[in-house]
Amino acid sequence: MNQVKKLQSEIRRLLKKRNAILLAHNYQRPEVQDVADLCGDSLELSIKASKTDADVIIFCGVHFMAETASILCPDKKVILPVKNAGCAMADMINAKQLSEKKKEMPSAVVVSYVNTTAEVKAESDICCTSANVLRVVDSIDPSQPIFMTPDRNLARYAKEYSKRKDISWWDGYCPIHDSLTVEQVKKVKEEHPDALFIAHPECRMGVLRLADEIKSTSGMIRYARESKHKKFIIATEIGILHPLKKACPDKEFIPADPDMICPDMKKTGLLDIIRALETLEPEVRVPDHIRKRAITAVERMLSL
Ligand code: 13P
Ligand code: SF4
Repeated sequence: MNQVKKLQSEIRRLLKKRNAILLAHNYQRPEVQDVADLCGDSLELSIKASKTDADVIIFCGVHFMAETASILCPDKKVILPVKNAGCAMADMINAKQLSEKKKEMPSAVVVSYVNTTAEVKAESDICCTSANVLRVVDSIDPSQPIFMTPDRNLARYAKEYSKRKDISWWDGYCPIHDSLTVEQVKKVKEEHPDALFIAHPECRMGVLRLADEIKSTSGMIRYARESKHKKFIIATEIGILHPLKKACPDKEFIPADPDMICPDMKKTGLLDIIRALETLEPEVRVPDHIRKRAITAVERMLSL
């Protein structure tokens, strides 16, 4: 057995011993995805966390994802194997900034991307993910304007592709997706004229306008699997190439930009997971007073 396989089988042994479940985001390193009980996008991982009967959730992703699991499952131990795996976009707004903004727009409904801290969720009316954002904004009372946070690109996407035109937003963004330019995409499309172009809604509007499809990470996998096409240009973090190739071994996937790498999503390795399972640290626990306010926004989203 090679070293990776040995570590993976040790992880499976420890998961059983701890009655733990291992959840991994689609951007995680391939060897981490391959040992997980479930790989998915933010929405699928939240749903799985809300339904599991495991005692421990090992969350291979970034901090806000573990916080969301803790909000949904206060009785479970939620472990983020690498404590400082964060999200640059989630850190672009804090609760104080959002509460100041709400004073300026008292009638607005606050829609927060799940990529936010628990404190920001506690100030929000409803959450959304890249998979359900259009459904979420279309579910909101048309007599109230919408304020979206923190991703300006997701908000612009929602405004252009949903029924709602009265959407304003916080000026945050994902540095990985926001760096992809129209010029880069046009060049890759020219090099591969027979490929379909699929983009994540965290990309800029100019990029989204060039897309054949706009999807969450798991939406991309489902779409590629079901499509008759054989070749795709993919605009999101390149960790997605691993599950795409696994799901469609006979198809070709070309990254729109091979440098779209989220350093935080790459921090977790197999040894970190083993240490986390042995010590049950570092735990992420959202304090009760924040959790009680944040859960409303998360549950409203999940109920749609
Ligand atoms: P999804 O997997 O929900 O599409 O989200 C992408 C992302 O940026 C997670 O950090
Ligand atoms: Fe945050 Fe962007 Fe990394 Fe996702 S890819 S965790 S949005 S910084």
